[in-house]
Parts: sequence; structure tokens; C-alpha cells
Amino acid sequence: MKTLIKNGRVIDPANKIDSVCDVLIDSGVITEVGVNITANADETIDATGLLITPGLIDLHTHLRDPGQEYKEDIISGTRAAAAGGVTSLTCMPNTTPVNDCLAITKYIISRAKEEGSANVFPIASISKGMKGEILSEMGELKAGGCVGFSDDGVPVVSGELMRRAFEYADTFDMPILTHAEDLTLVAGGSMNDGPVATELGLKGIPWVAEDAATSREIMLAEFTGGRLHVCHVSTKGSVDLVRQGKARGVRVTCEATPHHFTLTDEAVRGYNTNAKMNPPLRSQEDVDAVRAGLADGTIDAIATDHAPHHYDEKNVEFAVAMNGIVGLESMLPLSLNLVEEGVITLNQAISLLTSQPAQIIGIDRGTLGVGAIADIALIDPALEWEFKAENLQSKSKNTPFSGWKMKGAAVKTILAGKTVYSR
Ligand code: DOR
Ligand code: ZN
Ligand code: ZN
Repeated sequence: MKTLIKNGRVIDPANKIDSVCDVLIDSGVITEVGVNITANADETIDATGLLITPGLIDLHTHLRDPGQEYKEDIISGTRAAAAGGVTSLTCMPNTTPVNDCLAITKYIISRAKEEGSANVFPIASISKGMKGEILSEMGELKAGGCVGFSDDGVPVVSGELMRRAFEYADTFDMPILTHAEDLTLVAGGSMNDGPVATELGLKGIPWVAEDAATSREIMLAEFTGGRLHVCHVSTKGSVDLVRQGKARGVRVTCEATPHHFTLTDEAVRGYNTNAKMNPPLRSQEDVDAVRAGLADGTIDAIATDHAPHHYDEKNVEFAVAMNGIVGLESMLPLSLNLVEEGVITLNQAISLLTSQPAQIIGIDRGTLGVGAIADIALIDPALEWEFKAENLQSKSKNTPFSGWKMKGAAVKTILAGKTVYSR
């Protein structure tokens, strides 16, 4: 089976390509990229006016499968991914049970292969049961297909355990993905600490709760020589700490979510539980700092922290509502919005969404190079559309962006040469 995609603007940061040309796919593999390809294709796609990019890669999805399939499962979550132009994602281990052993890892991988609309690369937990007491069997989990370790959802409280995690993971050349949060400083807060929290009468989570933890993780990475990836940086201080760590040669990378570079804690007004997540939406100064970090290369990837929750878990008093929002289907337009606003270039955006995340977890994706598996997004950058929660592929509808006017969308998502989504 041969597919020829014609006349699109190919943006392939991994190979430093940005030009209008054609892409030929044969048996699920990219076999040629160039102008005026003539081939006897079974299918020809006219991509005039569209971007042809590697399929997007999300380093931070909660698929909820096994155990919480009423929120999301591997089928619905990967369908949401495909609708957002995402062809590969890593799934966090805070499932029920936790992905801390080979059996769960194998279940996720085989289920995704059989029924999924995207490649799924599991992240295993750092500690057994995410209890912060005993390290998981990292070697075995890597051999089983996991690409990193994280207790995301909760911090690893013990510095000693985290030290050993860095040392142990590094012997397998695997990154530690940290959810950086000092729970004693969070102290039961439910939104960002600041004037809005005061006005709403909600207990705040101060920036120092994130920065203190980010600082410890960077120091532990520096001390052990291990590899650190900081999840969802949301504060000015965290961005600065990563910037300084990189300057000292620490092996640290980080990601930012679309909600943290788009919204401030003002979105919580009205006790909007769809604006409640962890880390919380921060101040304008923090949003500006995250944007500056994306622009100057301090932040390596845009990732969703796609966290589906049932309506009943959000339709409660703010302080007790679950943390998190769905993000797979809004990541692309919100990232393109940064381009529109002149914060980053289009090439930077595509790189933050493809080749850079691929590099962090060491997968052979995020490239349109000849010989690469044909995971491709066809993006209409000019398409204006209304984002509606009820239209989401995800089982859960917890988004603060419903009703937003978006610009830019994936119009076709191709996974190993097969179309998995068409708009
Ligand atoms: O907002 C969040 N949702 N933050 C987390 O740390 C966990 C996640 C979830 O699993 O729902
Ligand atoms: Zn987290
Ligand atoms: Zn998360």
C-alpha cells in the first residue's frame, strides 16, 4: 500500500526541513520526501495549504486504564489523541492498580496495539504502588517497554528514595519524571495562592511548594548524575531553576502544559472546577515566565497532563473537586496560538510537540526522515473552529476551554501509514 501526500508544507524539525513538497509512504514507512514525487500510489492526498508534520507526541497522558475506565480507557484516550493530531503518548502509572509491574505494562502495551489509535509508551512508577517506600523493578519494566519512571500525581516525599531512584534508573539509561510538589507547603490548598484565592476564600498553594520540590529534584539529578524530566512546570521559579540547572550541565529537561501557558488563576473565578488542576493555574507573571521558557529553549516539550475525570467528580464544591483537565484535543490549537501571538515560531512549536519530546524518552518517532514509521499529522493552520466539550472523543469533558474559538486543527492523523482520524 502506497500513499502519496502532495503539496503540503513539510515541517520536520528533526531533519531541519521546512518546505513545500510531497511525502511518499510505502507499507507504513516514509520512503521519500521531496518535490514532485511521481509514484504509482494507491492513495493520493492533496495537502495544499496544509502542514505536514510528524505526528504529535504527548509526554503526559493519564489514560486511566486499567481500573478507572469510567473516566477514560485506552480506546477512547487514544481516539482523543488521534483527534488532536497526537500519534504517540506516554501514559502515567497512577492507574488502579498502579503500573509498577510487568503484568500491567504488558496489558497496556498489548491493548493499545490491538485497539488503540495511537502508540502508547507506558511510564512505570518510581515506587511500588506509588507509596514512596520501595523502588519498582526498573530493569524488568524497561525490558517490558516502559520509557521512564514517575509517581506523577504525588511527589516522592523521601529524598533518600528519590536519590536511589535516580541512581537505579540511570543504570538503565532511563529518565525520572517528577511531579514536583512539597505537600507540607501545599498544606491542603486548592488553587494558586494569591489575590484571587483570597477573594474567593479558598486556601492557596504558594509557588514555593513547587519551586522547593523542583529545586530538590534538580540537586538530586546533579548529585547522582541521573536524568531528570520535570513535569508541568507552572511557576517562574521552576523555569528559572531548570534554566540554571541546564547552564550548570545538569541532565534536566522539562515540559509545560497548554493550560499553564494560556490561563491564569483568574479562570478559577466562579469556582470553576474545570480550572482546577495540580499544579494550579498561576499568576500572569508565571504564565509570562513559562512562555519565555518555551521561547528560549529552557522548556523542552509541550505536554497535556490529560487528566480525565467524570462529571460527578467535578460537579462538587471547589475544594474537594478532583484535579485535572482533558488536554489531548486542545493542545495543538493552543500551541499554535503561541505562534500567532509571536511567542514562538511555528518551527519551535512543531519541535516542542514532536522531535523534542521524542528525544526525552528516546523513541524513534517525531521525524519524517526516510525510513521512519509514517506517523504524520496533516494540520490546517488557518481552520477556525469552536472547541466544544460535548464534541470531544475523550470519555470525560472536563475542560475550561469549551466555547473557545480556536485556530488550527489536525485534519488527518496517520499512524504507521493508516488514517486513524479525519476531520
Ligand atoms: O491535575 C492533575 N491531575 N494533577 C495530577 O498531579 C494528577 C492528575 C490526575 O491523575 O488526575
Ligand atoms: Zn503531576
Ligand atoms: Zn499528570
